[in-house]
Amino acid sequence: YVLGVDLGTSAVKVSALDHSGQIVAQESFDYDLIQKKPGYNEQNPEDWVSGTTVAIVRLILNDHLSASDIEGLSFSGQMHGLVLLDKDKKVLRPSILWNDTRSTPQRKEIEAKMGDEFVDITRNQPLEGFTLTKLLWVKENEPDIWAQAKYFVLPKDYVRYRMTGNLAMDYSDATGTVLLDVAKGEWSKKICETFDIPLSMCPPLIKSVDFAGTVTPAYAEFSGLTTDTKVFGGAADNAAGAVGAGILHPNMVLSSIGTSGVVLKYEDTPDVNYHGVVQFEDHAIPDKYYSMGVTLAAGYSLSWFKKTFAPAEDFTDVVASAAKSTVGANGLLYTPYIVGERAPYADADIRGSFTGIDGTHQRYDFVRAVLEGIIFSFRDLFDIYEENGGDFDTVVSIGGGAKSPLWLQIQADIFNRKVVSLKNEQGPGMGAAMIAATGLGWFDSLQDCAKTFVHFGKAYEPNPENVAKYAKMHKIYKQVYQQTKSISA
Ligand code: XUL
Repeated sequence: YVLGVDLGTSAVKVSALDHSGQIVAQESFDYDLIQKKPGYNEQNPEDWVSGTTVAIVRLILNDHLSASDIEGLSFSGQMHGLVLLDKDKKVLRPSILWNDTRSTPQRKEIEAKMGDEFVDITRNQPLEGFTLTKLLWVKENEPDIWAQAKYFVLPKDYVRYRMTGNLAMDYSDATGTVLLDVAKGEWSKKICETFDIPLSMCPPLIKSVDFAGTVTPAYAEFSGLTTDTKVFGGAADNAAGAVGAGILHPNMVLSSIGTSGVVLKYEDTPDVNYHGVVQFEDHAIPDKYYSMGVTLAAGYSLSWFKKTFAPAEDFTDVVASAAKSTVGANGLLYTPYIVGERAPYADADIRGSFTGIDGTHQRYDFVRAVLEGIIFSFRDLFDIYEENGGDFDTVVSIGGGAKSPLWLQIQADIFNRKVVSLKNEQGPGMGAAMIAATGLGWFDSLQDCAKTFVHFGKAYEPNPENVAKYAKMHKIYKQVYQQTKSISA
């Protein structure tokens, strides 16, 4: 077996998979967020280690996996969280997580000092969510801690370190620190010098599929694993999610609808520069990349609508009612900016809208408009890819959008591309297991592994008549942002 450890923000989920990619057992363990002040989100790295260990112990004891059958394991990790270690590699303070927003002054400082040069090196904006602003926050606000800090790593790197005794960071997560020179594939001396961060604080870089060590005797005793178990680098959760969804070829894009939505595109080279409008990260495949844009209120738009206007009804029924409306929701248009937006507009103040309301509209038209509006916001990102020469023909839909045939067809028609769902959607833990399986040599590459582990369902093809209607509506959709941004501020 291989284990895929999905180290998330609310829980860790560990899945055991066999050689055919079937899940044989799964265990998870929840942990808490520490929220001392508004905008602060922290976690104790020790909780990740003990949570992961409890899940592994349960796999062995409750699910009767024999430890000697667990050949290897790897990780998917929540991104960007800062773990600061002292000279003995002891944790110095709780981890400051990806969703912690305290570091706006540091973001502004980076923008003022480096401007476009920063984005050219890292391919990303220095957002509050990313690790560098968190490092600078500690440097400026907790000088005593900073004085003792010798290394920084990211959440799953710390768990890997505790399992193997070796400190490292994989490229896919390293891009998310915004300390990496993406085109060169090395830590940026320029950024370290500009912000007075010793280069020696940056851990050794490894590839996702690289062997990172075997389980130490101490961790073997703690977890029940054997010291023969091989541990591999692993990847950032978005990269691992892309692996598990088969986004491993240049013609593929992921459309993921959770509370927020993600459009993620495979990138063959680091040559394209989106100037930070979308995130640009190293993939789990060596020397390959992905770009990614986030719609903040994707599934959240729908759950907000249901809670507000159909509280007593079944969620699936509410979504299905959209079929009673027409393509284009009888002229009703929704923009999903109800909690602000991230991409393509990094705008915390913008708010959503329904436009074109007619006296004949029914609730099902509003439901349909919400389903369509979320996909129009994804389409905005497709436009950016097309403007930059992106050539892709297959969209893999995961999350909420993959659960409804109607929504899958809406995606095919708005994207004007073939849309497929997964037969065995498992999230980033599947990608983590695939990384371990490839690292172990079960397969020659992640692409090869996907032939056994990833299975696509039915393909939804665009209907030319609907494509034309949606293209017209999307032109209007794009104007709504421009026209409403001044009244939303
Ligand atoms: C990506 C991001 C989130 C976290 C969630 O930039 O901040 O998707 O990775 O774990």
